[in-house]
Amino acid sequence: MPAALAALVAAAGPAAAGTTGSSGAGDPYFPLAGNGGYHVKHYDLTLRYKSSSSELQGRAVINARATQPLTRFDLDLKGLTVTGLTVDGRTAGFSRSGQELVVTPRHALREGEDFKVTVTYQGTPRPVTDPDGSADGWIPTDDGAFLAGEPQGAMTWFPANNHPKDKSSYDITITVPEGRTAVSNGVLLGRSTAHGRTTFRWRQTEPMAAYLATATIGRFKTEQYTTRDGIQVYNAVDAREAGAAAPVLKKLPSVLEWESKVFGPYPFRAAGSIVDHAHDIGYALETQSRPLYDRAPSLSTLVHENAHQWFGDSVSLTSWKDIWLNEGFATYAEWLYSEQHGGDSAQKTFDELYARPAGNSLWAFPPGNPGSGAHIFDSPVYDRGAMTLHELRKAVGDPVFLRILRAWAAEHRHGHGTTGQFVRLAEHKSGKDLHTLFNTWLYQAGKPNRS
Ligand code: TRP
Ligand code: ZN
Repeated sequence: MPAALAALVAAAGPAAAGTTGSSGAGDPYFPLAGNGGYHVKHYDLTLRYKSSSSELQGRAVINARATQPLTRFDLDLKGLTVTGLTVDGRTAGFSRSGQELVVTPRHALREGEDFKVTVTYQGTPRPVTDPDGSADGWIPTDDGAFLAGEPQGAMTWFPANNHPKDKSSYDITITVPEGRTAVSNGVLLGRSTAHGRTTFRWRQTEPMAAYLATATIGRFKTEQYTTRDGIQVYNAVDAREAGAAAPVLKKLPSVLEWESKVFGPYPFRAAGSIVDHAHDIGYALETQSRPLYDRAPSLSTLVHENAHQWFGDSVSLTSWKDIWLNEGFATYAEWLYSEQHGGDSAQKTFDELYARPAGNSLWAFPPGNPGSGAHIFDSPVYDRGAMTLHELRKAVGDPVFLRILRAWAAEHRHGHGTTGQFVRLAEHKSGKDLHTLFNTWLYQAGKPNRS
């Protein structure tokens, strides 16, 4: 190697190592999800969708703050073509490697420095296939697209710091052919039609994890109203689902009122529902402030997705391994709702599940340790997760149990929570040693013995 080149390599090597943002946020289940070295404060996304070609044109303006010195950092973006990239208005270097969009700004960023990344991109978005085989992200439908990003799919339609550890506010502006509707998170600031296209401007002010963003496109009937508590509701329903959806959506204000009574104040200024007609998808998602359904939801699904607004959306995960904090809680909300509205008691639901034999898939793994990203949406996470909360309720009594749920939602509102923090909170509020209970129900393999 020529001496000059050797000197260059030697100089770049160690220096670069300390100033390169890592390619992942450190999640063992999804090692490349998210990135290190910065926090995104705000995403300003401007999207244009052409139904004739299924093509997306996008511009993302990302306001971020460096949390370490950075000569280089990554965003997550899967597929699509990047046509331009600037940092603080100056052309920056970039390369693509799998889902990593590697950015080299003209000048190194200092720790604590605010910076602005602008990415222009285009192409035909495609969903990602998750370890469990399901599709997420931008999923084409017969009249647009169903945009559900859990756990990985946000990066199929915008460049993101794609891990729930990082939460940001969003402005999402999307232009679609006239006659289609694009429904996103938060409040609708305005819509305007010109030259056969309609632009929708949405604003999500409260912090949101990237996977909870949506900009679902279809032919929807829409409805807007404000609840007694001042929450701005926007519903969008595919006509093919309207008949079945109407009686359930009518209950949204009373469900939110009941959930606010049980869990504490609703965390967002906006609410609503997006009811698409996309039965192949097979799941709903708790998109922030406005859950997304692949069909007319049942009442219990409506209760579940809206309970996630407290548990999962306002209080976010720091690791996908903790997914029971989302799904166990939203499932237990269904049990409580049923119990308090003339249906089965939570005890009855618990007993029916507990009666399943030791070989049943419910006992395949403990909810606190799903083992890999392939199992984060399996029944132990939902049902045994909810059973864990029921065991807690029996151990501490109803008043303390409800105090724990409310304190969890209040103390971690618009932030994050871990399983360890929940256990400590439950012990603190109850004054009880709950180590054995949580250890048994969250972490012990096989069917637990009855307490
Ligand atoms: N979190 C969703 C719910 O429980 C479910 C979900 C989201 C899901 N993405 C998924 C399930 C992918 C299976 C596969 O409401
Ligand atoms: Zn759920």
